[in-house]
Amino acid sequence: MAAAMKPISIEVWNPNGKYRIVSTKSMPGTRWINLLTEQDCRVEICTERKTILSVDDILALIGDRCDGVIGQLTEDWGEVLFSALKRAGGVGYSNMAVGYNNVDVEAASKHGIAVGNTPGVLTETTAELAASLSLAAARRIVEADQFMRAGLYDGWLPHLFVGNLLKGQTVGVIGAGRIGSAYARMMIEGFKMNLIYYDLYQATRLEKFVTAYGDFLKANGEEPVTWKRASSMQEVLSEADVISLHPVLDKTTYHLINKNSLALMKKDAILINASRGPVIDEAALVEHLKANPMFRVGLDVFEDEPLMKPGLAEQKNAVVVPHIASASKWTREGMATLAALNVLGAIKGYPIWSDPNQVDSFLDENTPPPAASPSIVNAKQLGRTSKL
Ligand code: GLV
Repeated sequence: MAAAMKPISIEVWNPNGKYRIVSTKSMPGTRWINLLTEQDCRVEICTERKTILSVDDILALIGDRCDGVIGQLTEDWGEVLFSALKRAGGVGYSNMAVGYNNVDVEAASKHGIAVGNTPGVLTETTAELAASLSLAAARRIVEADQFMRAGLYDGWLPHLFVGNLLKGQTVGVIGAGRIGSAYARMMIEGFKMNLIYYDLYQATRLEKFVTAYGDFLKANGEEPVTWKRASSMQEVLSEADVISLHPVLDKTTYHLINKNSLALMKKDAILINASRGPVIDEAALVEHLKANPMFRVGLDVFEDEPLMKPGLAEQKNAVVVPHIASASKWTREGMATLAALNVLGAIKGYPIWSDPNQVDSFLDENTPPPAASPSIVNAKQLGRTSKL
């Protein structure tokens, strides 16, 4: 079957390894490769120059015999790929990402294939990027940088690039899970913002932190910070000065931010999205940015990635970066390691790590990792329980 497909370029490590693992992309660091080759794996890394591989490209990579694949969030992992992987003898797939809206988990489960993701290692890095976008938007950093480079600066002026002061303002978090809570802490601790959040679950640890930090500030004679759990998302939108989106993308969060929700926000609010592009109706956002020059947005993700909706690139009140929220060296190397160990664990039949948020023992370069899969999202469907 593979012979009929067009050839696709690969790099091979440990050619005589017993298990064949394919990575659809080169990934940072070499630890993940070493961990696999030490465990008798032959690792094949796709070296095709095109950024996003098609389903056909990946079918060619899987070929006739493949034990597991490490893939990327840009790829369409559905029935076609999982049935091909199953036919090739595969038992494990891992996204090198925490989000897995590109994966049809049901299809994988049907074929008995474990699906891994990489939580626990990108929380702070992603939150730091959301915080960077918040500051860049509030203080108009990108506009000001472009102005300097264009040679337009001819002296200090009282009105030059006046932006928003964050201290004492309210940060709104929609989705106060791991990343949302880490982002909230950064904005509260760093800039003494008050918190309003919306989540189906109570963020008890975050609330306790804000209370304790508020008490600390008060004891120091400073204005205390406060928190509020909103009873609706609308409450966050209308009250917050900076709003950051941290939900998972599913049917319930598609276009969560649309024309109507944008209309609820303050005219000079700042909106940040480092979750998934389709959470925002981007065409409606472009219209809103045009109509409200004081409204600013910081976007790491886009509805039709890699494209931006028409008009967005021309908006000076938008800061845009190319889906780099998890892009710190430590995190990306860690993601590669976790993804590789998810696939290795599926092949070896290892138990599943009980707490995917506490993955430090997999990341310590000086000790061998635990014999476990760090994070398998369909463990229950496959009847695999966590034993560690
Ligand atoms: C990146 O977007 C991820 O989900 O890890």
